[in-house]
Amino acid sequence: VPVKNIRNFSIIAHIDHGKSTLADQLLLKTNTVAERDMVEQFMDSNDIERERGITIKLNSARMRYTDSQGELYALNLIDTPGHVDFAYEVSRSLAACEGALLVVDASQGVEAQTLANVWLALENDLEVIPVLNKIDLPGADPDRVISEIEDIIGLDCTDILKVSAKVGLGIDDVLEAIVKRVPPPKNTVDKPLRALIYDSYYDAYRGVICQFRVVDGSVSRGDRILMMNTGKEHIVDEIGVLAPNKVTVDTLYCGEVGYMAAQIKSVKDARVGDTITLSKNQAQEPLPGYVEVQPMVYCGLFPTDSNQYQDLRVALDKLQLNDAALRFEPEISTAMGFGFRCGFLGLLHMEIVQERLEREYNLQLITTAPTVIYKCVTADGQELMINSPADLPEPQKRRSMAEPYVRLEMVTPTDYVGNLIELATSRRGEYQEMRYLTENRTTLVFDIPLAEVVTDYFDVLKSRSKGYASMEYQMIGFRENDLVKLEIKINGEPADALSVITHRDNSYKLGKQLVSKLKELIPRQMFKVPIQACIGVKVIASEQIAPYRKDVTAKCYGGDISRKKKLLSKQAEGKKRMKALGRVEVPQEAFMAVLNLD
Ligand code: GTP
Repeated sequence: VPVKNIRNFSIIAHIDHGKSTLADQLLLKTNTVAERDMVEQFMDSNDIERERGITIKLNSARMRYTDSQGELYALNLIDTPGHVDFAYEVSRSLAACEGALLVVDASQGVEAQTLANVWLALENDLEVIPVLNKIDLPGADPDRVISEIEDIIGLDCTDILKVSAKVGLGIDDVLEAIVKRVPPPKNTVDKPLRALIYDSYYDAYRGVICQFRVVDGSVSRGDRILMMNTGKEHIVDEIGVLAPNKVTVDTLYCGEVGYMAAQIKSVKDARVGDTITLSKNQAQEPLPGYVEVQPMVYCGLFPTDSNQYQDLRVALDKLQLNDAALRFEPEISTAMGFGFRCGFLGLLHMEIVQERLEREYNLQLITTAPTVIYKCVTADGQELMINSPADLPEPQKRRSMAEPYVRLEMVTPTDYVGNLIELATSRRGEYQEMRYLTENRTTLVFDIPLAEVVTDYFDVLKSRSKGYASMEYQMIGFRENDLVKLEIKINGEPADALSVITHRDNSYKLGKQLVSKLKELIPRQMFKVPIQACIGVKVIASEQIAPYRKDVTAKCYGGDISRKKKLLSKQAEGKKRMKALGRVEVPQEAFMAVLNLD
């Protein structure tokens, strides 16, 4: 297929608006995948993704399409992950396209994620084609949604496509629109190779498989390539297209999208956003937009069974081969023994990694409360990045502390505006602006510390808007604040796993909540257990767990042996997840308590 007949596009949408369903329809209509081979939703390929119904890893598919004039086209669909944690990956896969289908649920309308994705697409100069999906639904209100798209995003909707991806209505029009409205790639085949990596994943047999878009020149099997940002060289031993299964070819030319294997050992050496060029005939400059991703959320991971420490290390090593954003370093905690301090892009990324470790590697883990990364300037002027409260220098050795801020956009039915302003303000959000999207839908914009968003913000937003509001955020940098380290002492022993860095204004309330929650969650012991929250040497809140009374203890140790056994086996599972702290057994819920305070 000549360059002028190539179309590279992605589909952007808010979660659940029907991106995957539409992608499947396109694959079916172009006979790329036969109905009988269609695993439910081809584009969302891994288990965790399917269960959670969100796309985490990208996938591409080349389709062959003959248009109404009988011309043959190659349509490359480049999928984008559907979550804010992966905004960088989204931006790189959009950079590999010339156009995007903007799918909006006709019964819902424009949502926060729709907006965030559209801005990314427009930044990358893509032709955005609006598509109204789910017009089969009785609740569909195309006119309202069209006016939202026109007013908010400023897209011309005269030729808007109306489809039902589920029923298969209007799919031909979508294919025609891709051909007619998405511009072909520029023909720069004579320039030195520049190819943009928009995804890479690790394959146990063949090393890293990169997915890339050839922007200039061409690349062939056997070529010696150079990664322009990491400086690594490799020899291409396989190259091909995903159709959507791998089909090998000899050469890929400018405008084309494909994959390669080159004996690359880890995704660290083939990073998303890096530019591939030829060692012999190098391009002068890499493609713009490469960033080394910086984890923003950290937590400690500890095996419940300390014998699993080595297994955990091996598992993390393996996951990292496939996940350039995952960081980890050994951590020793007096409460929990040996484990790792791990860095993630965001909360979802963290949950996914935890879930993989538990499911795929059979590990039982205790996770400490997530914390963001802080910037601390010491008295002698050094700048430290702090990802664990344990690493924070003493107050007298600190000059200043700064924490990451995000710009938060919440889209909500106007009825809940008051609730959401209250929520954001109570989380130290600073009001920026309010835009009426339509009569009954509003966008609220706040600058807010990331630390306030990474806990349960999304859940609370959902419950205070009866499920109708959506949110999206992006990093806007660090800001200085009066931040302190709040320490918890159980039975006089500092529970380092429970210390947190927090704003001083929040520390009293948080300290109170923490100690009273811990009082509920820590089982009674044979002796009195004091629980204290402290800043430095100052105790700001405290509680006590009373010891068992004598008769209770007696009952516990006497009685029918088989009944006792039954009880014991029931408790065995829970017991494993407890960690001895001093002489006090602390259940995992206690550690998680730090998370769920409101
Ligand atoms: P993410 O992968 O999380 O981004 O979601 P998605 O945008 O891919 O949504 P998906 O395709 O999984 O669709 C979400 C739900 O909407 C599914 O239950 C679909 O069956 C349903 N759905 C998709 N398209 C239509 C449609 O045209 N009409 C109706 N009635 N339902 C649809």
